Amino acid sequence: VTPYEVIHRKRDGAELPAAELRAFLEGYGRGEVADYQMSAFLMAVFFRGLAQEELGAWTRGMLESGEVLDLSDIPGAKVDKHSTGGVGDKVSLCLAPLVAACGVRVPMISGRGLGHTGGTLDKLESIPGFRVDLSIAEYRKLVREVGACLIGQTATLAPADKRLYALRDVTATIECIPLIASSIMSKKLAEGIDALVLDVKVGSGAFMKREADARILAQTMIDIGTHFGRRVTALLTDMDQPLGRAVGNALEVEEAVAVLRGEGPTDVTEVTFALGAEMLVLGGAAGTAEAARSKLEEAVRAGTALAKLEEIVSRQGGDARVVRDGARLPRARLQHEVRARSAGFICAIDSEAVGLAGVALGAGRQRVDSAIDPAVGFELLKKIGDKAMVGEPLVRIHANDEARLPDIERRLAAAYALGPTAPRRRPLVLERLSE
Ligand code: URA
Repeated sequence: VTPYEVIHRKRDGAELPAAELRAFLEGYGRGEVADYQMSAFLMAVFFRGLAQEELGAWTRGMLESGEVLDLSDIPGAKVDKHSTGGVGDKVSLCLAPLVAACGVRVPMISGRGLGHTGGTLDKLESIPGFRVDLSIAEYRKLVREVGACLIGQTATLAPADKRLYALRDVTATIECIPLIASSIMSKKLAEGIDALVLDVKVGSGAFMKREADARILAQTMIDIGTHFGRRVTALLTDMDQPLGRAVGNALEVEEAVAVLRGEGPTDVTEVTFALGAEMLVLGGAAGTAEAARSKLEEAVRAGTALAKLEEIVSRQGGDARVVRDGARLPRARLQHEVRARSAGFICAIDSEAVGLAGVALGAGRQRVDSAIDPAVGFELLKKIGDKAMVGEPLVRIHANDEARLPDIERRLAAAYALGPTAPRRRPLVLERLSE
């Protein structure tokens, strides 16, 4: 069958045989299926979905588009975490060193910004010199010697996902359960882990806006993991407002450092600890979630988590002095505050709109080949439930281009909804799912 026929049949809702999906994906890898054909196919999947068999074949095809690592020669459990993506979600930056400091190895293959969400790799690259493009040999060495390593997909690890991810980012084909599940799981299965903790985000800043969809996504990924023999636990966590106060690459690095100092915003800290506790339990470093939590708290108190972050940064070529001295991170030239036009309680923050404002400001990409400005972003001075007086600042914009400020300010002002009473808040961790 030709690429045209595959697209045509998926467009019309047919269930495709595993061999055809596999051939289509492999053809893409060899350059016989063009980017525009893959984009059209992804859009067809967006509307038509993938049946269970198709999803298994697609995930396997993505996984086997590259090398599947075996880290079994490195002693100890290897456990990773992956987030489905949010705004202000800098949890990986705090979690990898924290969990590694508690004795569980974290081989972490992360992504770049996607749609309105930020990406761990882009955040890490705001640290001068930090390299995310390590070879597999270097990655193995750091997982063994440091206990954690954060890299991007190499040309050899799930390369099909790497290319599809970049296409989806610019073709509005992200918010699709089978595409997200196969993207995440193909990467994670390739990296050589024993177990995985998923942070499935729900709310206005997530790809899944409704809890019911997030639950299906979580279950879909758990099923894929189980099918491939990995233990997977998922937490559904709140993304109805950006996590923490910082949105933007260097600003988020600074906030992640604050979490490891014990001085971070409570929500980022809470999500980090909840996921970390699951990782320690899966990795056998703690018998119960409570015991795991005490270990994590001790690693923050004793400074071992912060020291681990410094070690990771320096071993990956970055300037580790940024950990003790945030002024060494890139800074934007301009700061501008968005002020409340009426008084009231913050009832809602449209976090997708905040994320898209970040992209418009230069914190994310508008095209596959756009460059990111690591210094720009926002500090959310008010969050849901806070009270604001007329004229009080809601958000501080960090920008390098004055011409963009009016548009960004308009977007942020529109993202905030104020009302006469404080809204009821749902818990940060909404649900826990496992096999
Ligand atoms: N994160 C990923 O790695 N892939 C997706 O498709 C969405 C979030």
